[in-house]
Amino acid sequence: MLIKRPNDIRSSEITDEAVYWNRRRFISAVTAAGAAVAAGAVIPFWGSTDPHAGWQRRDDELTPFEDVTSYNNFYEFGTGKGDPAKHAHMLRPRPWTVTVEGEAHKPRTFDIDDMWKRFPPQERIYRLRCVEAWSMVIPWVGFPLRDLLSVVEPTSSAKYVEFTTLHDPEQMPGQRRRILPWPYVEGLRMDEAMHPLTILALGLYGRALPNQNGAPVRLVVPWKYGFKSIKSIVRIRLVRTQPQATWNVWAPHEYGFYANVNPEVDHPRWSQARERRIGELFKRPTLMFNGYGDQVASLYAGMDLRRQY
Ligand code: MTE
Repeated sequence: MLIKRPNDIRSSEITDEAVYWNRRRFISAVTAAGAAVAAGAVIPFWGSTDPHAGWQRRDDELTPFEDVTSYNNFYEFGTGKGDPAKHAHMLRPRPWTVTVEGEAHKPRTFDIDDMWKRFPPQERIYRLRCVEAWSMVIPWVGFPLRDLLSVVEPTSSAKYVEFTTLHDPEQMPGQRRRILPWPYVEGLRMDEAMHPLTILALGLYGRALPNQNGAPVRLVVPWKYGFKSIKSIVRIRLVRTQPQATWNVWAPHEYGFYANVNPEVDHPRWSQARERRIGELFKRPTLMFNGYGDQVASLYAGMDLRRQY
């Protein structure tokens, strides 16, 4: 499958779901045949040819590409859901580097194109659940964050990972206003960052990330609220203490550092018990840890998730 830049995508090319599943079978076949995975050329599907196997739940339907790329939160381009799609063309995702530093024996800076080659991305279907009680199901294209972190060899003092978005008001007009303290920062505990479900996404729907979704590289942590999924990352720092995550600093009573999807802990201004899947009329119950509890609940054993929300 070719990876296309966002501007190369014509609406006639946006795949309906049946075609999409067939394409996935094709990709699996290619992978099974041992095709070389060249960066930017072929993305293998991680798993079997059964569309309901692996990371996807049986009742999940993919959110259409149109919705995934037109209903966004990316305050660097405005606070309206349509603002990122309108203004993110101002972002220049090439050339781009990501510096990985801090408590590491071998800190280094990765060029984004080298990242594609060194960590060939694969496809994972994950739900994204926003704190605003809407959700989407997205075929991400990414690789486990832990593969990148292992390369820099974290020291034993590395307890957390801090992520920072580009700060450039010329490319990101929202940063000209103090809507949030810029640049956008997020953080994970080391064990969360090293969990195999945590990925750095370079694309979605088989293509490079559209700018409004966080080009050229973003975090995806499927059991946490969407605001942990920091976009357009330029720096990853291994640190000793809990990072000052943007939403947590901005409104600590509303947004905790952990931000685990939890239907039992309401946001102070609205319930978190249900969510509206984009494209659906009726709300559905929200699942603990966004449905990934079997894989991640043990990370929080002994913690009071009402206090550490
Ligand atoms: N990253 C940056 N840099 N700035 C943002 O405003 N919004 C977050 C997250 N990452 C945000 C960000 C929120 S609140 C959500 S729900 C997700 O991005 C939305 O991702 P999507 O637009 O790809 O659906």
